[in-house]
Amino acid sequence: MTTVITYGTFDLLHTGHINILKRAKEMGDFLIVGVTADKYDRERGKLNVQQSLSERIDNVKQTGLADKIIVEEYVGQKADDIQKYNVDKFVIGSDWIGKFDWLQQYCDVVYLPRTQGVSSTLLRNQKNGILKMGIVGNGRIASRFITESKYVSGIEVSAILGKNADHVKKFADKFQINENFTDLNAFLDVVDAVYIATPHVTHYDYIKQAILHKKHVLCEKPMVLSKDQAQELYDLAKQNDVVLFEAIKTAYAPCFAQLIGVAKSGTIGIIKNVVATFTKIIPDKTLREWDKNLGGGAFNELASYPLLAITKLLGTEPKHIHFTSFLDKDTNVDYMTRADFVFNNAVATATVAIGAKQEGSMVIAGTNGYIYVPAPWWKTEYFEVRFEDASKNMKYFSRFDGDGLRYELADFLALLRTKSMNYKLSGAESIFMADVLEKFNTALRTSENIDIL
Ligand code: CTP
Repeated sequence: MTTVITYGTFDLLHTGHINILKRAKEMGDFLIVGVTADKYDRERGKLNVQQSLSERIDNVKQTGLADKIIVEEYVGQKADDIQKYNVDKFVIGSDWIGKFDWLQQYCDVVYLPRTQGVSSTLLRNQKNGILKMGIVGNGRIASRFITESKYVSGIEVSAILGKNADHVKKFADKFQINENFTDLNAFLDVVDAVYIATPHVTHYDYIKQAILHKKHVLCEKPMVLSKDQAQELYDLAKQNDVVLFEAIKTAYAPCFAQLIGVAKSGTIGIIKNVVATFTKIIPDKTLREWDKNLGGGAFNELASYPLLAITKLLGTEPKHIHFTSFLDKDTNVDYMTRADFVFNNAVATATVAIGAKQEGSMVIAGTNGYIYVPAPWWKTEYFEVRFEDASKNMKYFSRFDGDGLRYELADFLALLRTKSMNYKLSGAESIFMADVLEKFNTALRTSENIDIL
C-alpha cells in the first residue's frame, strides 16, 4: 500500500485545492490530508484565513478524496507525521518548490504544478473586496503601519492626510500611496477606513468626523483622554454601524491572548496582584512625547499597555487609584509615573516612564503561583507559569513578528467583515483606560490622589 500525505489551509475550498487532492490521491492508495490549525496559521504569518478549522476540515471532507484528515499544529510536525503514519510520498504544490526537500530523508517528495489563476487569497479579495485604508498623519508611526500592512492581505493603503501639503506629498511618493490630502472631507470621501496616527489630543475630532462619514476607524493609543469622549465615540460608531478599534498592538498579539487565557483559567489560582512596567528614555525633549500641549508625558504616552493588562485581568471597576509622578522641570510633563490600583479582591501597579529606565516585565501573582513575562512583555512572545514546586513550571511561546501592528490590522479587517465583537479589547475596556487617563490628568491638575515629586 502506498500512503500519500499533503498539507494546506484549504480556506474557501477552490479548484486548485481539488486538483491537487485528486492528483495526490492518484499517486497512492491512501491519502492523508493535514489541515493547518488556526494558531499555527497565525504563527506562520498567515493572518487572514477566513474559515474556521472545522469549516476547513469539512471542505476537505466534502471532496471525498481524503482517507484521513489530521490537524497540523506546529513547525516540524510533517516529519513526525510521515514517520508516524509510515508515509511513502509527500505531495505539495509547486509554490513550495525546494522548501520541503529536507523531507526526502523520510519519504519521496513531489511538487505538483499549481493550478493557475486561483487561490484562497484571490477568492477572499474577490469576495470581500480590498479595504481602502487612509492614514491620518504622516509621522513616525504612519510609516511603520505601511510596512506592516503589507503582511495583511485584503488591505491597501490608498490615501494619506497631513497638515503640510509638501510633507504629505513627499510621504505619499516615498511609500507609493496613490492619493494625498490636506483636506479631511476630501480624504474621507475616497477611503473605506482610517488609521489615525496623530498626537492624542487630535484623535477625538478625527474619529468623530470619520465615523460621521461612515468610515471604520483604527486609532492609535491612547484613543482619547476622557471617559465621556470615549463613550460618545463608541456609541456613535454603533449608531453608524462602523467599527472603532483602539490600536494597542499588545491586545492582538497571539501570545498575549494566550497569556490572558492561562491567567484567567485558574492555573495560578485567584489573581491577586498585577505589576506591569513600560519605560523608555526619550532624550530629545523637543519631541511630541515631552510636549504638554500635545498630551505628552509618560502616563499619557505609555500607560495604555499596563492598563490593558490590568483591565483584561482584573476588570474595569477599581475601588481606588493613586498616582505618584515625577515631573520634569523643563517641560512640566511627568517623566515617570506609578499608578496603584485597589480592586475588590486584588491590587495592581502600572509603572511608566519616558525619562527613567526600569526592567519592563510583567508579573501576575495568584494564590497558586505566578506568571512572569520578561521585557518587553508588551511585545508578548514568551511567558512562564511558576509554582512553589518548580518542577510544575510551564513555558509558553508564540511568535510576535515585525512591529506587531499586523496582528491588530488583521483583527480589524476580520471584525469589520464579520461585524463581530472585539473581545480582545472591548469598548468597555477602552473606555476604562480613557477614564484612568482622565483621572490621572485631573489628579495632576488638582493635586488630589497624587504625590508629585
Ligand atoms: N494549490 C494549488 N493550486 C492553487 C492553490 C493551491 O495546487 N491554485 C495547492 C498548494 O500548493 C498546496 C495546497 O493547494 O499544496 C493547499 O494550499 P493553500 O495554501 O491552502 O491554498 P492557497 O490558495 O495557496 O491559499 P492562500 O492564497 O491563502 O495562500
